[in-house]
Parts: sequence; C-alpha cells; structure tokens
Amino acid sequence: MTLLQVMAADDAAEVRVRTTDDAVITAELARHGIAFDRWPVVAEAAALPSEELLARYADQVALLNESGRYKHIDIARIHPDDADPQWPARAKGAREKFLDEHRHAEDEVRYFAAGRGCFYLRLGAEVLAVVCEGGDLLSVPAGTPHWFDMGERPDFIAIRFFEEEDGWVGDFTGDAISGGFPSLDDLLTAP
Ligand SMILES: [Fe+2]
Repeated sequence: MTLLQVMAADDAAEVRVRTTDDAVITAELARHGIAFDRWPVVAEAAALPSEELLARYADQVALLNESGRYKHIDIARIHPDDADPQWPARAKGAREKFLDEHRHAEDEVRYFAAGRGCFYLRLGAEVLAVVCEGGDLLSVPAGTPHWFDMGERPDFIAIRFFEEEDGWVGDFTGDAISGGFPSLDDLLTAP
C-alpha cells in the first residue's frame, strides 16, 4: 500500500503526517508541486520481458510524454535471487547507490509497475517519505534534495523517464541527513 510519512527535517521522530489514503497523499504532494498518479497495474508484470511490459503501458507513456520531453524511457528491475550467492552483495550495492541525499538536473520520474521503493524528499523544514508500490507514478522535481531506499530485499520493476541519457546521475549533497531517517523496512513496520 502506498504510504506517505511527513517528518520534521531536523527530527525524524516528529511525525506530522502518516497516511495510506490516496486522496490525502495526492493532495499533500500536490501542495508541494509534486506530481503523483496511479496507473492500472499489469498483474503479470514480473513475468514479462521489459519491452513487452513497456508496450502494455504504451497509452499511459504516450500521454505522459505528449510533449516528447522524455527522450529515453526504460525499465529498471531488481528481484531477490536467493539461489545466487552474489545476491546479497548485489542487493546491498544497488541499495547503497541512492541512499545518500542527492539532486538531479532533471525531474526524476518513476512508475512502479511492481514491488516497492521509498523516495525521501527534503522540502524546506520537512522530509516527505513516499513509499511507492505497484501502480504509483512519482515525479521528483529537478533540484529537489532527496534519497531513495529500495529496502533490505530490493524487489521492484520501475519505468524510468529521462530527458537526457545521463539524467539519472546524482549530484550528491554530502549531507548525512538520510542516516537519521527510518529506512523503507522501518517505515513499513512502524505502528
Ligand atoms: Fe535520485
């Protein structure tokens, strides 16, 4: 279930909003100029090759990209593979890549076709943690300090929209703020 938890930027224990209500989440994000949308979930997404999955979302993608702004659209996927002895190291490496606060020169636009991941957006005096699940589309505005946690067992399929080929490259702020906030797994188990 999609979850929004709003915390004070200087004290993660000060939780101002915690909700799974779609309407509240959409309104709260819109108030900050953040686009959030829901697309119908393709049930067998994990079993489909990336090209076919993209084809299933052709209508939604065409509408989102009506202006032709996104030149590169691809699919990122990671699933637990306990049979692979390299999996724990691979999962850890993938997770750590975006755990530190960073910014991008363009909007970070992600549609979660399946699985989940959490975006943490630092907006002034607040940090908004948005746990996205299958069906969720979120756009992190260019220049917004943020980080992303895919959790201890990374498992998601995401359609990524880029204006430039290297649009995913992060400009790390060097601020250690993310270490003081609950992880994706912590957020899900919080009362
Ligand atoms: Fe990012």
